[in-house]
Amino acid sequence: MSEPQEMTTPDHSELFHPSESIVENSNVMAYARSKGLSSYEALYQWTLDNNEEFWADMANELEWYEPWTKVLDDSQKPFFKWFVDGKTNIVHNAIDRHARSWRKNKLALVWEGEDGTQRTFSYHALNREVNKMANVLKSVGVKKGDIVTIYLPRIPELPMFMLACAKIGAAHSVVYGGFSEAALADRLADAQSKVLITADGGFMRAKIIELKKIADEAMSRTPTVQTCLVVKRTGHDVNMELGRDLWLHELMGLPIASAECETEVVDAEDPLFILYTSGTTGKPKGVVHTHGGYMVGIYATLKMVFDMKEDDRYWCAADPGWITGHSYIVYSPLINGATSIMYEGAPNYPFPDRWWSIVSRHSVTILYTSPTAIRGLMRFGEAWPSRHDLSSLRLLGSVGEPINPEAWKWFYGVIGGERCPIMDTWWQTETGHFMITPTPVVPLKPGSATKAFLGVEVDVLHEDGTSCGANEDGLLTLKRPWPGMMRTILNDPQRYVDTYWTKLPSMYAAGDSARKDEDGYIWVIGRLDDVIKVSGYRLGTAEVESALVSHPAVAEAAAIGLPHEVKGNAIHAFVILRATFEGSPKLEDELRSHVGHELGPIARPDQITFVSSLPKTRSGKIMRRVLKARAQGLPEGDVSTLEE
Ligand code: WT7
Repeated sequence: MSEPQEMTTPDHSELFHPSESIVENSNVMAYARSKGLSSYEALYQWTLDNNEEFWADMANELEWYEPWTKVLDDSQKPFFKWFVDGKTNIVHNAIDRHARSWRKNKLALVWEGEDGTQRTFSYHALNREVNKMANVLKSVGVKKGDIVTIYLPRIPELPMFMLACAKIGAAHSVVYGGFSEAALADRLADAQSKVLITADGGFMRAKIIELKKIADEAMSRTPTVQTCLVVKRTGHDVNMELGRDLWLHELMGLPIASAECETEVVDAEDPLFILYTSGTTGKPKGVVHTHGGYMVGIYATLKMVFDMKEDDRYWCAADPGWITGHSYIVYSPLINGATSIMYEGAPNYPFPDRWWSIVSRHSVTILYTSPTAIRGLMRFGEAWPSRHDLSSLRLLGSVGEPINPEAWKWFYGVIGGERCPIMDTWWQTETGHFMITPTPVVPLKPGSATKAFLGVEVDVLHEDGTSCGANEDGLLTLKRPWPGMMRTILNDPQRYVDTYWTKLPSMYAAGDSARKDEDGYIWVIGRLDDVIKVSGYRLGTAEVESALVSHPAVAEAAAIGLPHEVKGNAIHAFVILRATFEGSPKLEDELRSHVGHELGPIARPDQITFVSSLPKTRSGKIMRRVLKARAQGLPEGDVSTLEE
């Protein structure tokens, strides 16, 4: 079993102050001064008192084809609308306006393959590529309002196809390249995609991930798919089905793939993408985001929190397949006119200093990553980063789960040379952009995402909706709408209402537990629903369980997350076998692989225990909290509803 994570009780009084020059030169204080305000606290209060003016200011820094008539329409709560009647396209702000300014010659994307290959794109080049791809999409029949599913490795074609879809008004549904065929098939079916974009394969630690093969299996279960566009990355032999599968490079050489393409004018509220995320049931939720509000929210947060400046070299080391990548690798850096770095492979390939070598070779100034990656690299020791000149760094960021103070201090000291503030950003697939986060002018407490972003109102509540006292555990909530908020769940608006808007009186229930300390700093504790964060990835216990029971040997299963030193949480599954099967290490291995095959390698349980019964309530609900307590040797708490 994995070692329990060392949990130092966070020290609520330890404060790290930003330097005067950081404060002085920050984008956020420049904005405060433009409002005649001299402190960040005063600015925050101003953004609450003048909420619509604040978001309108941010929106006015971008270009619109037609102005909005109303900033916020809350008449159909919780189906909020932002920038009502505004006409735009996120791609206009991400590419078009830069490609016709001096920025056309600025690097938009610097990509490094795991094998050391480099591909770079100026805004001009990116525009051409995206236009060509948009024309390819049109040529295979993609229209405004369609949902195109994208299943690609971490190569430039991934962001470029997202942009190409958005450009022509089609929504994209990106399925993370680490997911397996069942996960891909479910998402294809839910989105009713007619077009799937994949690659022959991807590289991870020099091994080929057989994406096309997985896509073939998924497509055999989803008859809606008529066309599959295939990007050549690995060059190994793959099956190409006549009449369905087309090589992208062949299409890109044809006259249909012209480098000119008009950007479609869309409504601010038109869908930009669907991104599936895990929740309480086995069926992932198709979170819907739109062009207008999302564009404004991600633009403002990156600008203010990561203090984006024209000469920055920004690297968000996540995968574009998750919300972090959608918002802060693909769209927001481009909207901000930034140069951003993207890396294909594993952080420790070929050696544990790969990331530090990237930072120094590309002179990265801002590095945004996750606690699990930091803990993973920390394990190899200080010698690896110390071989590289990391002095270009000026700001660091963390996302995905609470960062333990040990990892925070290592990141701050060893990587940031005690000079770079760490932006610990709390947000969700559903929120679209940062909600609780410092800006570079906020004194930091290691392990706390600090306070609400400008214009955002956060609280910690009891179940009856009253506020918790200082340091009391409660439900994390967002008390007013924000522009980048999800609009609904695809095909299931009722689930949107039930999941987020009924647990607390007319407020957004985030599904996290948290506490607020005496200084108003928020400390996120963890998920309250049946979601496990493994290496920052979000997995539903029900998804793991249904993968397990799809194996012929398994009668019933329960999955829980237990603390893990690097991953944050590791999955531990309890399995009741069917009568003719007997538990053995071999079967345990087989079940682990089975889950990996069904859902993807990240979902493989670390441990499987064969049991003869599971603790349940009288209504038959598995009490995972009891399993968790037992597995950790902790008191079981209130078990009055236990059936046994
Ligand atoms: C959940 C959302 C949004 C980016 C990636 C995760 C946890 C996220 C933090 C943080 C503590 C965090 C929460 C949240 N979480 N960031 N800085 N501190 N917890 O998106 O997969 O939708 O997961 O991640 O539990 O609810 P996601």
